[in-house]
Amino acid sequence: MTDRLAQRHVLITGAGGGIGLAIAEACLAEGARCTLADRSAAPSDGVARLQRKHPADVAYVGVDVSDTATVGGMLFAAQAAHGEIHTLVNNAAVFEMAPLLESDEASFDRLFAVNVKGLFFTMQRVLQHMVDTRVTGGSVINMASQAGRRGEALVSHYCATKAAVISYTQSAALAMAPHGIRVNAISPGVVDTPMWNHVDALFARYQGLQPGEKKRQVGLEVPLGRMGTPADIAGAAVFLASDEARYITAQTLNVDGGNVMS
Ligand SMILES: NC(=O)c1ccc[n+]([C@@H]2O[C@H](COP(=O)([O-])OP(=O)(O)OC[C@H]3O[C@@H](n4cnc5c(N)ncnc54)[C@H](O)[C@@H]3O)[C@@H](O)[C@H]2O)c1
Repeated sequence: MTDRLAQRHVLITGAGGGIGLAIAEACLAEGARCTLADRSAAPSDGVARLQRKHPADVAYVGVDVSDTATVGGMLFAAQAAHGEIHTLVNNAAVFEMAPLLESDEASFDRLFAVNVKGLFFTMQRVLQHMVDTRVTGGSVINMASQAGRRGEALVSHYCATKAAVISYTQSAALAMAPHGIRVNAISPGVVDTPMWNHVDALFARYQGLQPGEKKRQVGLEVPLGRMGTPADIAGAAVFLASDEARYITAQTLNVDGGNVMS
């Protein structure tokens, strides 16, 4: 299928690499215009590649989503580039882990600042914009995680941030339903991205594993027999952003090869 997102403007945070970049590529292939946002002032190599391929359709903005003052600037830049925003993919997040008794306040603050505060206030600003512009077919897709479905001894703060994402998705969906704006989340399982290279290195440290060993283990444990790829997640994002999902809201969709059943 093509052009499922024609005439749509999709804003994606954390789009410099990994899942966010794959979602950008899939949205562009479906005819969307995209504003891509990430921490660095300059676009990553992956974003620059998309800009070369779709020169009229890709804008880039540097933002730290945990700094609510800069989130307004991101929205301003997005509207200046492509007008009214139809879809927000709230994807930026960070990962840290430590044994529960060593999980400290500084790590809590870093994780909640990006994964919860950044996600919530970005969503709030974009929803206000959608209400003000009476957008047609508006939707938000928050990036949750299987980590938000079940706690983990070594990953307590991150798991808690992702449980919060699922909860905010439900509340926002109910608040926005009268405006015809849908709010959903995607819950990936284990996806081979730069974030998982970091996760693998941390498991190696805390569990005495060889580099790459945790990745192999988690891939084998997935019912479909492998880790996901960023492109595996992108299809679900396109679907949720499209009119095919017009009667779906308040849901967290597991895209995880069968890891979590619901
Ligand atoms: N990779 C997985 O296995 C997996 C599993 C479940 C959920 N997720 C979620 O999917 C999303 C994408 O993960 P990924 O694996 O592609 O990670 P990634 O680290 O490869 O990409 C995340 C992007 O977010 C950006 N980012 C981080 N902090 C930011 C900030 N303050 N402001 C703006 N941008 C910021 C990073 O620069 C990076 O480009 C995240 O929400 C993550 O929690 C990933």
